[in-house]
Amino acid sequence: MAFPTHRPRRLRSTPALRKLVAETTLTRDDLIAPLFVKEGLNDSEPIVSMPGIEQHTLSTLRKEVNDLVNVGINSVILFGIPAHKDGVGSGGDAPDGIVQQAIAELKSDHGDNLVVITDDCLDEYTDHGHCGIIREDGSVDNDATLERYASIALAQARAGSDMIAPSGMMDGQVGAIRHALDENGFTQLPIMAYSAKYASGEYGPFRDAAECAPSFGDRRSYQMDKANAREALIETELDISEGADIVMVKPALAYLDIIKAIHDLFPEPVAAYHVSGEYAMLKAAAANGWIDGQAVALEHLTSIKRAGASLILTYLAKEVAPLF
Ligand code: PBG
Repeated sequence: MAFPTHRPRRLRSTPALRKLVAETTLTRDDLIAPLFVKEGLNDSEPIVSMPGIEQHTLSTLRKEVNDLVNVGINSVILFGIPAHKDGVGSGGDAPDGIVQQAIAELKSDHGDNLVVITDDCLDEYTDHGHCGIIREDGSVDNDATLERYASIALAQARAGSDMIAPSGMMDGQVGAIRHALDENGFTQLPIMAYSAKYASGEYGPFRDAAECAPSFGDRRSYQMDKANAREALIETELDISEGADIVMVKPALAYLDIIKAIHDLFPEPVAAYHVSGEYAMLKAAAANGWIDGQAVALEHLTSIKRAGASLILTYLAKEVAPLF
């Protein structure tokens, strides 16, 4: 019998050797922890569909961020739930809105050691739960929404946000926000654009957490159709031309081909959002003992990075940080 000439197994024989030849490594520096802060809560509230994740008060948020920093996670993205919602999402750009307060407190605790990213959208703040201003006929008014996003970005910038992350998928949103920031002296404030954000069934638990499920219809007239890959390149190219500094794909695992395509075509850093439903599926299966949760968490995050994402927004940040 002839011996095989090529033996890839030679480099797999010990953990040290496997580490030495690993092409992809996860680091805490690449992880962004999404956090929810709700106005008017007396204590943090668990989110049933996202085991281990909570709606925070300002004070439990500070503690959570201290815990994150202690395990080496230095970036967070904030989502706010106001005490009162209305048709235009007034809580989003109120100078004393919940996210604006949270930014100020976290920046005073951690200064430049922490990157505080802020979601710029309307759904958390509107009584109808849509990401934009609604016309009489129920459709979303793109350009009226842009003015709201610009105003929210400015409120967040004034409160000390380190990066604005528009997630509403309105046409021209990056340009509108960039323009407003520049006109008001925030020329150095970066934008992380949710560029290829798909209309996904995997956002359900987030809508529990942010209390933002649409009260009628769905988001398919503004979020992308799962059937489309080439359209993601158009969205990304537009966002970059309008001034996006980082482009994002969301969700992550069902869209690894999109992450890879964008990574290969554009030099800007690519972020991927491992979303609430991806987290919930993993946690539910692990809780039943059907999968090894820790192994699968590391496998998922490594795959996202391997596909080309250099940053990952993930609810797993705190628990996986001590593992590498
Ligand atoms: C919209 C927004 C959503 C998520 C992030 N920003 C919800 C949506 O589009 O319905 C979902 C994130 C997740 O599921 O973890 N502001």
